[in-house]
Amino acid sequence: MKREINGKTKIIGIIGKNIENSLSPLIHNQIIFKYSLNFCYLPFKVTENDLSQAIQGIKALNIRGVNITFPYKEKVIEFLDELEESARRIGAVNTIVNNKGILTGYNTDVIGFKKSLQEDGKFIIKKKKAVIFGAGGAARAVVYALLEEEIEEICIFNRTLEKAKKIKQNLLPFFPRSNINIFPLEKEKLKDKIEEAPLLVNTTSLGMPPKIDNTPLPDEKLFHPNLLVYDLIYHPAKTLFLRQAERAGVKIINGLPMLVYQGIESFHLWTGLKPEGKEVLKMIKRIT
Ligand code: ATR
Repeated sequence: MKREINGKTKIIGIIGKNIENSLSPLIHNQIIFKYSLNFCYLPFKVTENDLSQAIQGIKALNIRGVNITFPYKEKVIEFLDELEESARRIGAVNTIVNNKGILTGYNTDVIGFKKSLQEDGKFIIKKKKAVIFGAGGAARAVVYALLEEEIEEICIFNRTLEKAKKIKQNLLPFFPRSNINIFPLEKEKLKDKIEEAPLLVNTTSLGMPPKIDNTPLPDEKLFHPNLLVYDLIYHPAKTLFLRQAERAGVKIINGLPMLVYQGIESFHLWTGLKPEGKEVLKMIKRIT
């Protein structure tokens, strides 16, 4: 069917600092095209100084909603009118919905991560242990998702210990029986903890352009055969971290399934329509 922009076209989009390589515009516009919807998804590259005005602009321009990405998922909260419960608990927002001038923040990364891990990684979270690199906005959603699914232990390794401590402090009241341990990025402790864990997740930006030669893991020998190695990065499709894991014969998963599944949840919030995740993922894999 022919697609045209007209006076009734509803605008959705993504706000971030470095969004040139984002696949979200492609994903959402493909879905819009497939279902012949009168929507258009646009990239909005916004500097930190302009973030407040950009969010106000959603109301002023009657934009239906936006995704929020690196590095604004936490900072954006102060500019919103309302927060959905999980976004409030996590302290990070990746989706804003504009309902007649009221901006509500959601976090669809939680369901996106869960679905990708369970469906694409074939991983059962309950009673398992996980090691997580990073303590930013993405890490918060990952930790929250794992706690909701009753993981036994989470070990967060982060360069800035304070940020990892904060995640634990913030989430403990909602999951009083949870077992969250935090560590600086040191090899010895990492070795012990990775040995015990079947899941290793990178939520840091190490491996993303321009840091494509970086990896959060100091030594490839730390991989073991029973590990699922998950990198939230999808560009490049295989970071150095994932290439090393693959070389070690370990099962890997990149950030594309999560990106697609969280995007579908956001799309549903804006349009009321929920496409089948697996189908969209297949379509995106075919054209990228
Ligand atoms: P996001 O919202 O995508 O999680 P973020 O909040 O900026 O982004 O978090 C980025 C994560 O990558 C943080 O855990 C950060 O570590 P710090 O908390 O110490 O800043 C991590 N990170 C980024 N660059 C890093 C580097 N060179 N070495 C180690 N960790 C790094």
